[in-house]
Order: sequence, then structure tokens, then C-alpha cells
Amino acid sequence: MDSIRIKGGRPLVGEIRVGGAKNAALPLMTAALLSDEPLILANMPRLADIETMKALLEQHGVTITLEEPEDGVSGRNATLDARGVNNTTAPYDIVRKMRASVLVLGPLVARHGQARVSLPGGCAIGTRPVDLHLKGLEQLGAEIELDQGYILAHAPNGLTGADIVFPFVSVGATENLLMAACLAQGTTRLKNAAREPEVTDLAECLNAMGARVSGIGTDTLVIEGVESLGTANHAVPPDRIETGSLAMAAAATGGDVTLLGARPDMLEQVFRAMGQAGAVIDCEADRVRVRCPRVVGIDVMTEPYPGFPTDLQAQMMAMLVRAEGASMITESIFENRFMHVPELCRMGANINLHSRSAMVRGVARLTGAEVMATDLRASMSLVIAGLVAEGETVINRVYHLDRGYERLERKLATCGADIERVAGR
Ligand code: UD1
Repeated sequence: MDSIRIKGGRPLVGEIRVGGAKNAALPLMTAALLSDEPLILANMPRLADIETMKALLEQHGVTITLEEPEDGVSGRNATLDARGVNNTTAPYDIVRKMRASVLVLGPLVARHGQARVSLPGGCAIGTRPVDLHLKGLEQLGAEIELDQGYILAHAPNGLTGADIVFPFVSVGATENLLMAACLAQGTTRLKNAAREPEVTDLAECLNAMGARVSGIGTDTLVIEGVESLGTANHAVPPDRIETGSLAMAAAATGGDVTLLGARPDMLEQVFRAMGQAGAVIDCEADRVRVRCPRVVGIDVMTEPYPGFPTDLQAQMMAMLVRAEGASMITESIFENRFMHVPELCRMGANINLHSRSAMVRGVARLTGAEVMATDLRASMSLVIAGLVAEGETVINRVYHLDRGYERLERKLATCGADIERVAGR
């Protein structure tokens, strides 16, 4: 297994281009299942999770081509053609690798009247059930059974629109039901829907395919079902989590980095928090420059969008470990998302956990250590810690990083980081 070796202590200085958003690209790919005409997606990131979704959709019978763009800089172009879907089972072997696989459920039931999808099971950041996805599909008229670790869903006569009120915000459940409702008979209202930019983007792509979704960007999505969807050309938006992660890396190292091809408007809350912590952030429509003369402690709580994203909690903590003063970081979305804390402490951080909050007391220095990546965003927090630590840090289990960060070591190296990938440890 590859590892990443970092010699810390150098400020990041330069420019980095942000890639397409993983969490937008994955649901967009599953939306192809709703149509028998091709869906063409631009700016697809080069990530392990995209390859996993490609493998899943191909085994359903979707034909997928991925091509490098002419400019060689932006993301790849994908064409997904679901005309020949001949298998509605999503097997355990693929679903266990990536929870987002469950997003095939809504589109398959809506278009084929049936689906058999492995239950995703637990993961490093909590139990993460899919009960809201299943209840919502039942409300749309599907019959759901659980059998030998699989979700069996049937709707031989198609789905019917319904009013669905989510008891709490779920990105995945909103996306699954939004897609399913596009082909249901009648009107569906999704209340307390997730407002994450990736949900908004999915709704816009569905409308480009011929769906009738309104209320986009609000917490109530109204979907008038249509008979069928057609083709569309859609560009994956820039990755706001990659943008935030690199901004925090720049700030933590006291650097000066401009992130190109970004969408700062999707990160208002994040940049506000970073500003309170001492970062100087200059935003233009498609780029953001981050500098940070000194870091001071602040309090942060994760919340559904437009609040501070849980997917940047670990990276923010890494930025704050050397702050002047203390910070309180509260995780309100996932029950077990502090796996990075013991690893950061091994590097010299002073962090105490109290239930869903972490008290981070700033320390003067971190020292390099051999650490273990536990999940995607936790891995990035260890990279940030490695960049500021004295001496050498080795991060094992790098496959977590490869799931969601494209060419990370190359991007950081162009800004002066001493970082390399070591093959096969
Ligand atoms: C998505 C993102 C993930 C991000 C998360 C929260 C993708 C591919 N992944 O994950 O990076 O961290 O949103 O912003 O877009 N829950 C239930 N029952 C359900 C569904 C969810 O209890 O049926 C709970 C989860 O366990 C969690 C909370 O709801 O505690 C929010 O999860 P959700 O928004 O659904 O996250 P994902 O869509 O899985």
C-alpha cells in the first residue's frame, strides 16, 4: 500500500487548480440511469471513487467512456449511456467500498420498477443508515424488503408522487428521492431537503435532461413527474471541499496560495470561520487567494449547508492545532467523526474530546510522526498537520486520500511542499 512522506515546515506559496467535485459527480453519474439517451458530463475528476462508480454502473449495463480534455488541464469528459441496462443488482463487493453506490437505488426503481442493492453497512465515521432513503421510496409507492444484506425494492406499476418530510437533513436521501421522483406519476414535494450545492447541481442537470424540478436551492423541492428523460450536457462544478482543504493547508503553513477555478460563493461560512481564525481571504468569481500571518483559536460547529461542512471539520482542526488560544470544534452531523484526533495528538496536538465536541488547545509546534489515515477527510487533516510539523511525517493507507483528492501531492509540491508518494509499503 502506498504512503505519503512529508517534510514539514515550508509555507505553501503559488497557484493550484481545483478539480471537479466528487460529491457532485457521483450522483450525476447515477442520474444517467434515468434515461435511455446519453448523459454527457464535463470536468469529471480523476478519483478512485469515480472509477468505483464507473465499475458499478458498467455492471448494470451502462456504457461509459471517459476521455481526457483537449486542454489537458480541466477534468475528463464522460459519456454515460444507460440504454442497455440489463442488471438491477448493486453487489456488496462494490457498495461496501463506497456508500454513494446506494444512489443507484432511486433511479433503478423509477426506471426499471425494481432494484436489488446491497446495504452499505457501517463505515469509519459512524453507522450511517439509509432508513430515510427507504422510507421515502415507500412513500413513493415502492415495496421494500431487506433480505440477506440486500435492499429489495419493487414498483412494477411505477412510482407515484407524494409529500415527503425528512425528519433531518440528508444529502443522499434527498438526491435518491429527487431522482426517483422525476419519473413518478404526479407531484412530489421533498420538505426539509438538503440544500448542499451538489443537490442543487443535480437538480439543474435533471432539468436539463427534461425533468421538472422547482424550488432548487431551497429546502422544499417540488418535482412534477415526467414520462421519460432525455440527453443533456452538464459540467461538474468545482470541488468546494478540495477548495476548503487546500485553503486550510495554505493558512496552516502561513503561506500565500491562489486557488484557481474555484467557486468561493459555495464556501461563505468556511471562509468566514477562517477569517475569524486570522486568514486573509480575497475572493473573485472563480478564484480565491488565501494568506495567513497567524492563526487564532475559534469555535466551529458543523451543520448542513449553508453551515460549516462536516467534510471540512478534520482539516479545520488541523489548521487550529497550532493556533494562539483554544478552539471548540463541535460535530453535529456524524456521531463518530473524530478518528483523526488520536493521530493529531501523536504529532503533539493537545485535543480533548467531550462527546461531540473537541477542545483544541493551541500548541507551539507539531512534530512529524508515522500516522494512519482512517477516512478520506481525516487523511487530509493529517497531510495538513504533516505540512506544518517539524521533521518527517509518513501517512499510511493513502488509498483513502485517492478516493477524493486528485493528484494531491503534485498540487502541493508545485507550491513548495516537500511531499512524495512512496509506493507499496
Ligand atoms: C454526503 C456526502 C458526505 C458528507 C455528508 C454530509 C456524498 C457522496 N457524500 O453523505 O461527504 O459528509 O453528505 O454532508 O455526497 N442518515 C440517517 N439515515 C439516512 C440517511 C442519513 O440516519 O437514511 C444520517 C447519517 O448517518 C448522518 C446524517 O444523516 O448522520 C447526514 O448524512 P447524509 O447527509 O445522508 O450523508 P451522505 O449523503 O451519506
